[in-house]
Amino acid sequence: MYCRRVDDLENSRVAKQQDMSGPLTSFPASVYCFLLIFVISTVFHFQLRLSKLSIVCEEPPLLETPAPTNFHHDGFWTVLSQGRLGNQIGQYAGLYALAKLNRYQAYISPQMHNFLAPLFRITLPVLPDSVAKNIPWQNYHVHNWMSEEYRHIHGAYVRLMGYPNSWTFHHHIIDEIRREFTLHDHVRKEAQAYLHRIQKSPATFVGVHVRRGDYVRIMPQRKGVLAHKGYLDQAMNWFRAHYNNTIFVVTSNGMSWCRKNIDNTKGDVIFAGDGVESTPGKDFALLIQCNHTIMTIGSFGLWAAYLTGGMTVYLANYTLPDSPVLYYFKPEATFLPGWVGFPADLSPLLKH
Ligand SMILES: *[C@@H]1O[C@H](CO)[C@@H](O)[C@H](O)[C@H]1NC(C)=O
Ligand SMILES: *[C@@H]1O[C@H](CO)[C@@H](O)[C@H](O)[C@H]1NC(C)=O
Ligand SMILES: *[C@@H]1O[C@H](CO)[C@@H](O)[C@H](O)[C@H]1NC(C)=O
Repeated sequence: MYCRRVDDLENSRVAKQQDMSGPLTSFPASVYCFLLIFVISTVFHFQLRLSKLSIVCEEPPLLETPAPTNFHHDGFWTVLSQGRLGNQIGQYAGLYALAKLNRYQAYISPQMHNFLAPLFRITLPVLPDSVAKNIPWQNYHVHNWMSEEYRHIHGAYVRLMGYPNSWTFHHHIIDEIRREFTLHDHVRKEAQAYLHRIQKSPATFVGVHVRRGDYVRIMPQRKGVLAHKGYLDQAMNWFRAHYNNTIFVVTSNGMSWCRKNIDNTKGDVIFAGDGVESTPGKDFALLIQCNHTIMTIGSFGLWAAYLTGGMTVYLANYTLPDSPVLYYFKPEATFLPGWVGFPADLSPLLKH
């Protein structure tokens, strides 16, 4: 369950050979955007035609999406695009899984597409705003864990709302979710080239994500804490004890805190993150090309851990029992059974 799949290993071997070829040239963004929009609108019109045809011949539309799902119903399902990369991934995955369970075709907004498509080979079609605005959407709130009733959502124009960052929605189709979040070749190769540069001999790469930024202010208001120095020491020592030749690849939106607080006396820590919050894709790609993960809090690190698919150490019990966070967050629906949790230091909250 926690092993990388064989084809991942194959891919990384291929990547190793190709990484020698030097720096990558990329398309100018405008050309890329234009092509993308062209392809999307063509696909979209094609699908609309197919669904009209299907009304005539009473057959479900034959869609070009790879999942062999029968969409028993005509209609459009979508999800409200909210938050940044981690939450966008969660909303996409939640939509993908729930639409499939209820047998509706899912569409994403151009906004979500803009977040995810530069990084991942996602396949859900985009619903242009000009079409979406004429659809009588039925908003449907989902909480952060799967419920039985979500298997029976009725409506042809459902718009999911929420932050479904939980494996409980989609772990039964993990291969499809991994396929949706496969990195584009040029992104993967850049991350692989970086990892190969920093290893002297075959290493065990542990991606470390330290969530800081706005949470430094927000977490105490919510009776919670961020990861402290002791947690990161403990988590890194756990990996040092269980794997040989570990290299810790640190990314964060607070890199200067990391440089001050992460102990690098063993020389096995690389402060890799560029910390640019507006373009988190590079850090995310680096994390998921590692073998294992140390996460702290937040959906970005959680998704990095889940998609990496290795062993994960997480920060546990990082709120007081009366924290409002516990209304929308269930640890058992967030962390996979088998991941290792180390408790947070709540003492800064108890001083007040
Ligand atoms: C680490 O390397 C040693 C010596 O090569 C080996 O005996 C041991 O099994 C390795 N440990 C792990 C966890 O791979
Ligand atoms: C660890 O990750 C590196 C970089 O992605 C990869 O080359 C290597 O094959 C992985 N090792 C294992 C045991 O999966
Ligand atoms: C978190 O708190 C719960 C309830 O007190 C406890 O059962 C659990 O062991 C704690 N988890 C960790 C990793 O300390």
